[in-house]
Amino acid sequence: MTAVPLDAFRAELETLRADAAAALDAAADGTAIEAARIEFIGARAGRLKAIQKLLGGLAVADKPAGGRLFNEVKEAIATRLASAQARLEGGGPAAAVPLDVTLPGEPVPLGHVHPITQTIRQVQEIMGRLGFESVDGPEVEDQWHNFEALAIPAEHPARDPLDNFYLAVARGSDPLLLRSQTSTVQIRIMESREPPLRIVSLGRVYRPDTADATHYPMFHQVEGLVVEPGTTMAHLKSVLRLFASSFLGGDVHVRFRPSFFPFTEPSVEVDMEWGGRWIEMGGAGMVDPAVLEAVGYDPDAVSGFAFGLGVERIAARRYGVADIRDFYRNDVRFLRQF
Ligand code: FA5
Repeated sequence: MTAVPLDAFRAELETLRADAAAALDAAADGTAIEAARIEFIGARAGRLKAIQKLLGGLAVADKPAGGRLFNEVKEAIATRLASAQARLEGGGPAAAVPLDVTLPGEPVPLGHVHPITQTIRQVQEIMGRLGFESVDGPEVEDQWHNFEALAIPAEHPARDPLDNFYLAVARGSDPLLLRSQTSTVQIRIMESREPPLRIVSLGRVYRPDTADATHYPMFHQVEGLVVEPGTTMAHLKSVLRLFASSFLGGDVHVRFRPSFFPFTEPSVEVDMEWGGRWIEMGGAGMVDPAVLEAVGYDPDAVSGFAFGLGVERIAARRYGVADIRDFYRNDVRFLRQF
């Protein structure tokens, strides 16, 4: 087989270099640039690829010079390609579509805060005006804070594994669970501070409840706690009434029904009347002296009240939502309304 003459090889390369330069300089848009790229340096069927095959047919003595020339042309085309791309991105003269600054901009859809988060912030704001400091507590809790310090002993049905989300991991021999109420935060704050206290805590709680119009297995509670000398049920009711009329607007009535919670004595269910209907919003009561003692307070020197309300319930009431599951369906047509 006769060797490919070096001159013929060089001529092929120079033709390619000139054709590629002409095509790339004339390319008016990204499609034309891409077509030129494929034609000249495409990895499978590009013209440069065809010339590369000729390289092997050069005489041995011509191969170094042929290889150098081949690489030089290859790099030259790549540089030309890059500058064609830069020219288009920079909106240079060959960019066919002129920029019309008088056209309206493209609207960017903006999201907004979820109605439950909005509710949480409003509650914090209202309670802040009443002098309550907003505090947080962990969602993974131990037995002491979720139960024992709240006077819920080991044999109490509220600790039943079927009524709680216990975790598969434990801290030593102490089982951990997702907290079932925000009353845990009362204990954590009382353990770490001295009275007087006036705190509010809003956060997620978890119970294996079947979801229905007023229940969800993950929901939020507002916990309020006041510990000061001379605190009474009358203060509790006034705070709840002030809160309810600020949050719901208008003259909301608050009703106490006798109830039982292990950590308050006396205990009540809190109902609110609004628009002619009574709805259970939460539980409340005077902090049991045994709880004050468990955190190292002197029950003869201070007394306190506490309450816990369901955030989804008060939000549903305020916004006229009939089913709290709607808050968590993530249907933007619903969420957009808030
Ligand atoms: C408690 O959780 C007590 N920790 C409240 C309390 C605090 C009493 C301080 C005394 C002192 P209860 O289990 O009733 O109480 O829940 C309180 C409120 O949470 C309910 O009234 C309701 O509004 C809301 N709630 C309870 N379960 C659910 C659920 N599955 N989904 C949505 N909201 C719920």
